[in-house]
Amino acid sequence: MTRVHALLADMRRSASEESVPILRPECEKILVDVVREKRPVRLLEVGTAIGYSTLLIAASMPESATLVTLEIDAERAAIAKQHIADAGFSERVTVLVGDALTILNQLTGDFDFIFLDGPKGQYLAYLQLLLNKLAPVAVVVADNVLFRGMVNAEENPPRRYRTLVKRLREYLAFVSTDERFATTLLSDGDGVAISYYREHRGESDEET
Ligand SMILES: C[S@@+](CC[C@H](N)C(=O)[O-])C[C@H]1O[C@@H](n2cnc3c(N)ncnc32)[C@H](O)[C@@H]1O
Repeated sequence: MTRVHALLADMRRSASEESVPILRPECEKILVDVVREKRPVRLLEVGTAIGYSTLLIAASMPESATLVTLEIDAERAAIAKQHIADAGFSERVTVLVGDALTILNQLTGDFDFIFLDGPKGQYLAYLQLLLNKLAPVAVVVADNVLFRGMVNAEENPPRRYRTLVKRLREYLAFVSTDERFATTLLSDGDGVAISYYREHRGESDEET
């Protein structure tokens, strides 16, 4: 087992003990495969928590790549920074602490990989802010898009989740109909949407 994998195993244990939400095990391979296949060089993650998915992504990205990750909770961000340092990625991974909406307004592009795993109701707002910060070819992975099966269900969600479910449906509708995106929706875990972006998508372009 490599140092990063040993660290990830420890992190999964402590996240479970501390009830910190992190990527479901069944989604790890999806995330890693996209990063390995697309070989992005400027990556962005929204929702760092303690840095579990951050390290998975960092360990899979090319050596020349850099990753910026955003977390609103200062305590979690501090733990993530320590894990990133322990894994030897401090030079290439930057944790920014604050509200993602504020930070995204200030960030400059061009990102060619985005992992959305922060507040689910904000995915579309984040993506809309990021549209002019994407590289000409990019991929956007969004986790929990089926939110406990409620997004695809015919019956109404419980009242407290109505806005969230409506917003996730709006996100999925956008990445499924905007012609710059080709989206694959996977039911693994809590639902993962992989949206392949091309600034100029011609008729001859492949699905991705
Ligand atoms: C599901 S967790 C992220 C898990 C992480 N990506 C992983 O798989 O290891 C979502 C994180 O988003 C953070 N978050 C919530 N609202 C936020 C906001 N407005 N801006 C930035 N981060 C936010 C939460 O504090 C939480 O740590």
